[in-house]
Amino acid sequence: MTSDLDCARSIIADATRVVSLTGAGISAESGVPTFRGPGGLWKSFRPEELATPDAFRRDPQTVWEWYAWRRGLIADCAPNAGHAALAEFALRRGGKSIITQNVDGLHTRAAREASGQADPDAAVPIEVHGAIDRDKCSSCGARTPGVADVDVQAAATLPHCDVCGGMLRPDVVWFREPLDPDVIARAFDTARAADVCLVVGTSALVHPAASIPMVTVERGGHIIEVNMEDTPLTSFASVSLKGAAGQVLPSLLDVDLSN
Ligand code: OAD
Repeated sequence: MTSDLDCARSIIADATRVVSLTGAGISAESGVPTFRGPGGLWKSFRPEELATPDAFRRDPQTVWEWYAWRRGLIADCAPNAGHAALAEFALRRGGKSIITQNVDGLHTRAAREASGQADPDAAVPIEVHGAIDRDKCSSCGARTPGVADVDVQAAATLPHCDVCGGMLRPDVVWFREPLDPDVIARAFDTARAADVCLVVGTSALVHPAASIPMVTVERGGHIIEVNMEDTPLTSFASVSLKGAAGQVLPSLLDVDLSN
Protein backbone atom coordinates (compact mmCIF):
# COMPACT_ATOMS: atom_id res chain seq x y z
CA MET A 1 0.00 0.00 0.00
CA THR A 2 1.38 3.45 -0.90
CA SER A 3 1.77 5.76 2.08
CA ASP A 4 0.90 9.45 1.99
CA LEU A 5 4.60 10.21 2.22
CA ASP A 6 5.39 8.01 -0.81
CA CYS A 7 2.53 9.58 -2.72
CA ALA A 8 3.84 13.10 -1.94
CA ARG A 9 7.39 12.08 -2.86
CA SER A 10 6.25 10.79 -6.22
CA ILE A 11 4.29 14.00 -6.97
CA ILE A 12 7.47 15.97 -6.21
CA ALA A 13 9.63 13.64 -8.31
CA ASP A 14 7.34 14.19 -11.31
CA ALA A 15 7.21 17.97 -10.83
CA THR A 16 9.20 20.48 -12.83
CA ARG A 17 8.78 23.40 -10.44
CA VAL A 18 8.11 23.09 -6.73
CA VAL A 19 7.39 26.22 -4.72
CA SER A 20 6.88 26.35 -0.97
CA LEU A 21 4.83 28.65 1.20
CA THR A 22 5.85 28.60 4.83
CA GLY A 23 4.41 30.01 8.03
CA ALA A 24 5.27 30.24 11.69
CA GLY A 25 5.00 26.46 12.19
CA ILE A 26 8.27 25.82 10.34
CA SER A 27 10.11 27.91 12.93
CA ALA A 28 8.34 26.38 15.94
CA GLU A 29 11.00 23.68 16.29
CA SER A 30 13.63 26.45 16.39
CA GLY A 31 11.86 27.91 19.45
CA VAL A 32 10.00 30.79 17.77
CA PRO A 33 6.42 30.75 19.08
CA THR A 34 3.67 30.54 16.45
CA PHE A 35 1.03 33.27 16.41
CA ARG A 36 -2.05 31.17 17.07
CA GLY A 37 -0.57 28.29 19.05
CA PRO A 38 0.73 27.96 22.61
CA GLY A 39 3.04 30.89 23.44
CA GLY A 40 1.37 33.01 20.73
CA LEU A 41 0.16 35.55 23.25
CA TRP A 42 2.58 38.12 24.65
CA LYS A 43 1.50 39.68 27.95
CA SER A 44 -2.05 38.56 27.07
CA PHE A 45 -2.08 40.55 23.79
CA ARG A 46 -3.08 38.80 20.57
CA PRO A 47 -0.91 39.70 17.52
CA GLU A 48 -3.96 41.35 15.92
CA GLU A 49 -4.03 43.82 18.83
CA LEU A 50 -0.38 44.90 18.61
CA ALA A 51 0.64 44.39 14.99
CA THR A 52 -1.39 47.31 13.64
CA PRO A 53 -0.64 50.91 12.63
CA ASP A 54 -3.32 52.07 15.12
CA ALA A 55 -1.64 50.29 18.01
CA PHE A 56 1.71 51.87 17.04
CA ARG A 57 0.18 55.35 16.87
CA ARG A 58 -1.58 54.86 20.21
CA ASP A 59 1.20 53.12 22.13
CA PRO A 60 4.52 52.80 20.25
CA GLN A 61 6.33 51.86 23.42
CA THR A 62 4.31 48.65 23.98
CA VAL A 63 4.53 47.70 20.30
CA TRP A 64 8.32 48.22 20.35
CA GLU A 65 8.57 46.28 23.61
CA TRP A 66 6.90 43.30 21.89
CA TYR A 67 9.14 43.49 18.83
CA ALA A 68 12.30 43.98 20.91
CA TRP A 69 11.32 40.82 22.81
CA ARG A 70 10.72 38.93 19.54
CA ARG A 71 14.02 40.19 18.05
CA GLY A 72 15.94 39.01 21.11
CA LEU A 73 14.18 35.65 21.06
CA ILE A 74 14.84 35.13 17.32
CA ALA A 75 18.49 36.16 17.66
CA ASP A 76 18.94 33.22 20.03
CA CYS A 77 17.29 30.75 17.61
CA ALA A 78 18.87 28.79 14.78
CA PRO A 79 17.38 27.31 11.60
CA ASN A 80 16.12 23.75 12.09
CA ALA A 81 16.03 20.66 9.86
CA GLY A 82 12.90 21.95 8.10
CA HIS A 83 14.60 25.20 7.01
CA ALA A 84 17.75 23.26 6.06
CA ALA A 85 15.83 20.72 3.96
CA LEU A 86 13.96 23.44 2.03
CA ALA A 87 17.22 25.35 1.46
CA GLU A 88 19.07 22.24 0.17
CA PHE A 89 16.12 21.37 -2.06
CA ALA A 90 15.89 24.91 -3.48
CA LEU A 91 19.62 24.92 -4.25
CA ARG A 92 19.40 21.48 -5.86
CA ARG A 93 16.44 22.41 -8.05
CA GLY A 94 17.61 25.99 -8.79
CA GLY A 95 15.27 28.94 -9.14
CA LYS A 96 13.85 31.05 -6.36
CA SER A 97 11.17 28.89 -4.84
CA ILE A 98 10.60 29.64 -1.14
CA ILE A 99 7.85 32.08 -0.17
CA THR A 100 7.50 32.81 3.52
CA GLN A 101 5.15 34.71 5.76
CA ASN A 102 7.79 34.59 8.47
CA VAL A 103 9.78 37.67 9.39
CA ASP A 104 12.37 35.77 11.43
CA GLY A 105 15.09 35.46 8.76
CA LEU A 106 15.66 31.76 9.49
CA HIS A 107 15.20 30.69 5.85
CA THR A 108 17.89 33.19 4.81
CA ARG A 109 20.25 31.91 7.46
CA ALA A 110 19.59 28.32 6.33
CA ALA A 111 20.26 29.36 2.71
CA ARG A 112 23.65 30.78 3.65
CA GLU A 113 24.52 27.70 5.70
CA ALA A 114 23.46 25.32 2.91
CA SER A 115 25.00 27.14 -0.03
CA GLY A 116 28.74 26.58 0.55
CA GLN A 117 30.33 27.79 -2.68
CA ALA A 118 26.96 28.01 -4.44
CA ASP A 119 24.97 31.22 -4.78
CA PRO A 120 22.60 31.23 -1.78
CA ASP A 121 20.13 33.41 -3.68
CA ALA A 122 18.10 30.47 -4.99
CA ALA A 123 17.28 29.51 -1.42
CA VAL A 124 16.69 33.02 -0.06
CA PRO A 125 12.94 33.40 0.42
CA ILE A 126 10.43 35.89 -0.90
CA GLU A 127 9.39 37.46 2.42
CA VAL A 128 5.83 38.65 1.92
CA HIS A 129 5.38 40.01 5.46
CA GLY A 130 8.74 41.81 5.77
CA ALA A 131 11.75 41.19 7.98
CA ILE A 132 12.04 41.78 11.71
CA ASP A 133 15.75 42.63 11.49
CA ARG A 134 15.06 45.77 9.43
CA ASP A 135 13.51 49.08 10.49
CA LYS A 136 11.38 51.43 8.44
CA CYS A 137 10.57 55.08 9.13
CA SER A 138 6.91 55.52 9.98
CA SER A 139 7.00 58.98 8.32
CA CYS A 140 9.21 58.86 5.21
CA GLY A 141 9.43 55.08 4.73
CA ALA A 142 13.27 54.99 4.63
CA ARG A 143 14.58 51.50 5.43
CA THR A 144 17.58 50.77 7.64
CA PRO A 145 19.10 47.73 9.34
CA GLY A 146 17.27 47.11 12.61
CA VAL A 147 18.50 49.12 15.60
CA ALA A 148 20.12 46.67 18.02
CA ASP A 149 18.89 46.67 21.62
CA VAL A 150 16.06 49.17 21.25
CA ASP A 151 15.62 51.03 24.54
CA VAL A 152 11.92 50.58 25.33
CA GLN A 153 12.02 52.21 28.77
CA ALA A 154 10.12 55.29 27.56
CA ALA A 155 8.56 56.70 24.40
CA ALA A 156 11.41 59.25 24.27
CA THR A 157 14.09 56.56 23.97
CA LEU A 158 12.53 54.78 20.97
CA PRO A 159 14.60 54.96 17.74
CA HIS A 160 14.15 57.75 15.17
CA CYS A 161 14.93 58.12 11.48
CA ASP A 162 18.26 59.74 10.47
CA VAL A 163 16.64 61.16 7.34
CA CYS A 164 13.52 62.92 8.65
CA GLY A 165 13.40 62.37 12.41
CA GLY A 166 10.20 60.29 12.24
CA MET A 167 9.81 57.32 14.54
CA LEU A 168 11.29 54.05 13.32
CA ARG A 169 9.24 50.85 13.38
CA PRO A 170 10.08 47.27 12.49
CA ASP A 171 9.88 46.66 8.71
CA VAL A 172 7.08 44.11 8.95
CA VAL A 173 3.60 44.16 7.47
CA TRP A 174 0.90 44.87 10.02
CA PHE A 175 -2.78 44.01 9.99
CA ARG A 176 -4.77 46.46 7.87
CA GLU A 177 -1.63 47.40 5.91
CA PRO A 178 -1.13 46.52 2.25
CA LEU A 179 1.68 44.16 1.33
CA ASP A 180 4.50 45.43 -0.87
CA PRO A 181 2.86 45.10 -4.33
CA ASP A 182 6.07 43.99 -6.08
CA VAL A 183 6.85 41.35 -3.47
CA ILE A 184 3.37 39.82 -3.37
CA ALA A 185 3.16 39.90 -7.19
CA ARG A 186 6.46 37.98 -7.36
CA ALA A 187 5.10 35.43 -4.88
CA PHE A 188 1.92 34.85 -6.90
CA ASP A 189 3.89 34.64 -10.16
CA THR A 190 6.21 32.05 -8.63
CA ALA A 191 3.28 29.94 -7.43
CA ARG A 192 1.53 30.31 -10.78
CA ALA A 193 4.58 28.89 -12.57
CA ALA A 194 4.80 25.89 -10.21
CA ASP A 195 3.25 22.47 -10.54
CA VAL A 196 3.52 21.77 -6.81
CA CYS A 197 3.03 24.13 -3.88
CA LEU A 198 4.34 22.74 -0.63
CA VAL A 199 2.45 24.47 2.19
CA VAL A 200 4.31 24.18 5.48
CA GLY A 201 3.35 25.27 8.98
CA THR A 202 0.76 27.90 8.23
CA SER A 203 -2.78 28.17 9.58
CA ALA A 204 -3.66 29.63 6.13
CA LEU A 205 -5.92 32.21 7.74
CA VAL A 206 -4.18 35.43 6.73
CA HIS A 207 -4.76 36.63 3.16
CA PRO A 208 -3.50 37.36 0.58
CA ALA A 209 -0.62 35.01 1.54
CA ALA A 210 -3.02 32.14 2.26
CA SER A 211 -4.38 32.39 -1.31
CA ILE A 212 -0.98 31.84 -2.94
CA PRO A 213 -1.22 28.00 -3.13
CA MET A 214 -4.62 28.24 -4.84
CA VAL A 215 -3.06 29.73 -7.98
CA THR A 216 -0.92 26.60 -8.32
CA VAL A 217 -4.09 24.48 -8.04
CA GLU A 218 -6.00 26.67 -10.50
CA ARG A 219 -3.24 25.96 -13.06
CA GLY A 220 -3.67 22.21 -12.57
CA GLY A 221 -0.91 21.77 -9.97
CA HIS A 222 -0.90 20.16 -6.55
CA ILE A 223 -0.81 21.32 -2.96
CA ILE A 224 1.15 19.14 -0.54
CA GLU A 225 0.54 20.29 3.01
CA VAL A 226 2.78 19.68 6.02
CA ASN A 227 1.14 20.65 9.30
CA MET A 228 0.16 19.23 12.66
CA GLU A 229 -3.51 20.04 12.03
CA ASP A 230 -6.07 20.68 9.30
CA THR A 231 -6.30 24.14 7.77
CA PRO A 232 -8.62 25.78 5.23
CA LEU A 233 -6.21 24.51 2.52
CA THR A 234 -6.33 20.86 3.59
CA SER A 235 -9.34 20.00 1.48
CA PHE A 236 -7.52 21.35 -1.62
CA ALA A 237 -4.36 19.36 -0.90
CA SER A 238 -3.49 16.28 -2.96
CA VAL A 239 -1.65 15.00 0.10
CA SER A 240 -1.77 16.25 3.69
CA LEU A 241 1.17 15.10 5.81
CA LYS A 242 0.48 15.39 9.51
CA GLY A 243 3.66 15.97 11.45
CA ALA A 244 6.40 18.39 12.43
CA ALA A 245 8.11 20.14 9.52
CA GLY A 246 11.60 19.36 10.82
CA GLN A 247 10.83 15.66 10.73
CA VAL A 248 8.71 15.45 7.58
CA LEU A 249 10.62 17.73 5.17
CA PRO A 250 14.03 15.97 5.06
CA SER A 251 12.46 12.66 4.03
CA LEU A 252 9.82 14.25 1.80
CA LEU A 253 12.52 16.17 -0.09
CA ASP A 254 15.10 13.42 0.12
CA VAL A 255 17.65 15.61 1.85
CA ASP A 256 20.37 14.01 3.94
CA LEU A 257 21.28 16.40 6.75
CA SER A 258 23.68 14.07 8.51
CA ASN A 259 26.84 15.89 7.28
P1 OAD B 1 -0.03 30.61 12.79
O1 OAD B 1 0.46 30.76 14.18
O2 OAD B 1 -1.36 31.18 12.46
O3 OAD B 1 -0.09 29.05 12.39
C1 OAD B 1 0.98 28.19 12.63
C2 OAD B 1 0.66 26.85 11.99
O4 OAD B 1 1.78 26.01 12.15
C3 OAD B 1 -0.53 26.11 12.62
O5 OAD B 1 -1.38 25.65 11.58
C4 OAD B 1 0.13 24.93 13.36
O6 OAD B 1 -0.68 23.75 13.35
C5 OAD B 1 1.36 24.71 12.52
N1 OAD B 1 2.52 24.11 13.23
C6 OAD B 1 2.93 24.30 14.51
N2 OAD B 1 4.07 23.64 14.76
C7 OAD B 1 4.41 23.00 13.60
C8 OAD B 1 5.50 22.17 13.20
N3 OAD B 1 6.49 21.85 14.04
N4 OAD B 1 5.52 21.70 11.93
C9 OAD B 1 4.52 22.02 11.06
N5 OAD B 1 3.47 22.80 11.38
C10 OAD B 1 3.41 23.30 12.63
O7 OAD B 1 1.13 31.20 11.84
P2 OAD B 1 1.01 31.72 10.33
O8 OAD B 1 0.08 30.88 9.53
O9 OAD B 1 2.40 31.88 9.85
O10 OAD B 1 1.26 38.00 9.96
O11 OAD B 1 0.37 33.15 10.55
C11 OAD B 1 0.14 33.95 9.42
C12 OAD B 1 0.39 35.39 9.76
O12 OAD B 1 -0.39 35.76 10.89
C13 OAD B 1 1.80 35.72 10.19
O13 OAD B 1 2.70 35.90 9.10
C14 OAD B 1 1.62 36.99 10.91
C15 OAD B 1 0.44 36.59 11.75
O14 OAD B 1 -0.28 37.58 12.28
C16 OAD B 1 1.71 39.25 10.10
O15 OAD B 1 2.50 39.56 10.97
C17 OAD B 1 1.19 40.19 9.06
